[in-house]
Amino acid sequence: MPRITVRNIAEMKRRGEKIPMITAYDYTTAILADAAEIPIVLVGDSLGMVVLGYESTIPVTLDDMLHHVKMVARGSKNALIVADMPFMTYQVDPAQALTTAARLMQEGGAHTVKLEGGVNLAPTVQRIVECDIPVMGHIGVTPQSVNALGGYRVRGRSSQEAGQLLNDALALEAAGAYAVVLELVPTPLARLISQRLTIPTIGIGAGAGCDGQVQVLHDMLGLFTDFVPRHAKQYANLAPVIKEAFSRYAQEVRKGTFPTDKESFTMDETLLAGLDDTQ
Ligand code: KIV
Repeated sequence: MPRITVRNIAEMKRRGEKIPMITAYDYTTAILADAAEIPIVLVGDSLGMVVLGYESTIPVTLDDMLHHVKMVARGSKNALIVADMPFMTYQVDPAQALTTAARLMQEGGAHTVKLEGGVNLAPTVQRIVECDIPVMGHIGVTPQSVNALGGYRVRGRSSQEAGQLLNDALALEAAGAYAVVLELVPTPLARLISQRLTIPTIGIGAGAGCDGQVQVLHDMLGLFTDFVPRHAKQYANLAPVIKEAFSRYAQEVRKGTFPTDKESFTMDETLLAGLDDTQ
């Protein structure tokens, strides 16, 4: 299967074909995402919480992102790889944003970048796109703004917020973004935005009217046990499976029933005859 491109993603919207996207943070999960024919993998800064153990995405650095984007790029052969631009690596000015985007592509191996923001970030998006770097926008709940927003509450329930979100989406499209993530946006508003835009919307907690959906890997696999967001659907419940495997392993080591001959290696034991304690 050839590599998915941003053109393929645009065609999917034109054909009315829904677009699945998941996050991946390493080589192994990137291979599995390809095997499931997921067209877009996002190396999200959500890795700050589900991989690095931070309370938010704020502490994630560009070096953290590069480390994980490289792993995903080594595993992925087919998906479009999107890399999140971490907090304060693009907000200062368009030149800073361009440098960050270039590093994620050149050093990391990403095909496109994602940044959080709407009207306020449109000039930055335009500058990056002018340099032939495809940009995915992200509006609604923008986790890097958690301190300013005062939490992760649904955005767009008032007419003022709904109008602002529509303007944000239109500004991103006009600036040249190829897709926009809508996070925690009420279903009717997300549907309206999806209908008004020619570029695809990718929803998370934004209902079925979006052109695509994204889920955080650890949430959908039931791996992350700190909390399960309401918008997450668990397609597997791996945490108890893994814990059970760890416990069985520890028990067998303690009892001496692991390893057996099957997991061990033989040799000609007569060769040990001449060895004494001092060697
Ligand atoms: O960082 C991330 O995983 C994201 C998704 C939730 C869209 O931005």
